[in-house]
Amino acid sequence: MSTADAPIGVFDSGIGGLTVVRELMRQLPEERIIYFGDTARVPYGPKSPDTVRRYSSEIAAFLASEGVKAVVVACNTATAHALGMLQASLPLPIIGVVEPGARAAVRGSHGGAIGVIGTAGTIASGAYERAIRALEPQVRIAVRACPLFVPLVEEGWLDTEATRLIAREYLDPMTAERVDTLVLGCTHYPLLKPLLSQIMGPNVCLIDSAEETAAETARVLTARGLRAPSGERGEHRFVASDAAEQFLRMGQRFLGSAIERVETMTLG
Ligand code: DGL
Repeated sequence: MSTADAPIGVFDSGIGGLTVVRELMRQLPEERIIYFGDTARVPYGPKSPDTVRRYSSEIAAFLASEGVKAVVVACNTATAHALGMLQASLPLPIIGVVEPGARAAVRGSHGGAIGVIGTAGTIASGAYERAIRALEPQVRIAVRACPLFVPLVEEGWLDTEATRLIAREYLDPMTAERVDTLVLGCTHYPLLKPLLSQIMGPNVCLIDSAEETAAETARVLTARGLRAPSGERGEHRFVASDAAEQFLRMGQRFLGSAIERVETMTLG
């Protein structure tokens, strides 16, 4: 039985899900978070759906064993392949990033043309297209896998000439399709937002699924009476499956001083 003072479990293939943690901390400052980054097995983007499902269920089982009251699947690829399976197998609210992002895109799109970018796995799964069409069947959707963005962000190349050239190459078809809204369907892409927004121009609305997922988490916890008592101050734990030192260094790029220590835990 979940209790309101239990922590929220959040997981991702690596550090990228810290963009969701940053939003959770901003929107729900009283909540405690346990974050698991699967740094030993990142990236999930190019892996098969079965492998991503196996990794995801191992991590969700670990978080459940830590007594979390809900699990946020902060990884788009894991959400695309494993959300349904996790929801069917765990007696906890499981929140993914795809539906909140799709909802925000439909809300933000005025011209009825939505672009979605993500990892190869997310795009191949068709998860965003299904989620968007379920809300708005008439919308035009253009999708594009942008596999080079993840290593560029991890390298800290958020605004270099090389990143700009690659982003243009990826996004030119979106501009040609005249999308009015672009879903940043990957944990890492919000860090490229300033650059992507320059390329797409001021009339294209960029959807950051991190913001929407935190808002969805707040709604789900409230609906189930699971919000942490107000006045509490969230204490967080960060766990990585490998290279804790590197996780800490990169994590500070996402979260600043909110991350001070990283534990290591091997799964699988
Ligand atoms: N976390 C992944 C996602 O949001 C990106 C990194 C990876 O490929 O594992 O899809």
